[in-house]
Amino acid sequence: MHIGILTGGGDCPGLNAVIRAVTLSLINECGAKVTGIERGFLGLLTRSSRPLDTAAVAGILAEGGTILGTHNKCDPFHYFGAGGADSSAAAMDYVRELGLDALVAIGGDGTMAIAHKFEALGLPVVGVPKTIDNDLFCTERTFGFDSAVAVVADALDRLATTGRSHGRVMIAETMGRYAGWIALEGGMAGGAEVILIPEIPFSVEAVAGRCRERAAHGLSTIISIAEGAAPEGGGLTVQRTIADSPDPLRLGGVGNWLQQQLEPLVDCEVRTTLLGHIQRGGSPTPFDRVLATRFGYHAAQLVEAGQYGRMVALQGDAVVSVPISEVAGKNRLVPRDHELVRAARGIGVSLGEK
Ligand code: F6P
Repeated sequence: MHIGILTGGGDCPGLNAVIRAVTLSLINECGAKVTGIERGFLGLLTRSSRPLDTAAVAGILAEGGTILGTHNKCDPFHYFGAGGADSSAAAMDYVRELGLDALVAIGGDGTMAIAHKFEALGLPVVGVPKTIDNDLFCTERTFGFDSAVAVVADALDRLATTGRSHGRVMIAETMGRYAGWIALEGGMAGGAEVILIPEIPFSVEAVAGRCRERAAHGLSTIISIAEGAAPEGGGLTVQRTIADSPDPLRLGGVGNWLQQQLEPLVDCEVRTTLLGHIQRGGSPTPFDRVLATRFGYHAAQLVEAGQYGRMVALQGDAVVSVPISEVAGKNRLVPRDHELVRAARGIGVSLGEK
């Protein structure tokens, strides 16, 4: 058996742990030959790959990023390198030349959608969900999320001490695209007094009111705001548009916008920190290392059993698998009545609601 592995979309902590687990499990349990495709689906078009064996994956468990490289723009069905033309036949030529029997695709919703299309061309696929955003359908956790939350929590701890010393309002803007998981869980872990997420449009006056209330008691305020959060009646804050990307919008800047709105409404200074790609870099947490290893092992088991067209997923405490078709191109947002949202309200965290 000869299996290809690729990592697609934005990188995240834990990708190397999956590459390691898939490779070692396939070698140890099936005697398979394993090949890493470089830079996501782009490698199928540029014919870039490398053999993966025990030595190639040694020492990468705790390493951030992906040793295979990744690409968040390359969709072979609309290949920017060919002016948006369908280049999937060329990719399949390389698959046949390598002699791949199947592909393990590690990625987010975009990667799953592309993987699903390759299945229709006769390339059996197993998917492994990754993203710091934790917004993939059918899985309660993606690896990378816990590592991002740890970064946010640490940042809020640091912002709290300086904010308290100066009696300021400190805003921390997190990633997460259209989902508020990072801002919510990071905000709760870091003790934020205000948490603003895309799923709950916020009122600037309500946020200002909470800051004033706290200031009246001599307290500073920490605000955790997701990049996709928006005021009632307002739109997304877009930092840039990347025309040839499957999801062209790059969000960012709502924290600075909020600072400008708050400053005239509160009696103290307001500062904003954009956490940015720091949330995506660095070593995975122990939780993510273990989850990524469980996912990788389970993906190899699916390959061994010939159960293709499925993505591994975490449901409850169990690693299960679901049809990729159910996941492709969909997002899992924070339900407005999610248990953590209710806990936040219950302990008096403002979600920016009036
Ligand atoms: O999907 C992961 C993510 O980090 C989002 O949270 C963020 O909006 C986006 O990717 C940033 O993308 P880029 O690396 O292209 O700036």
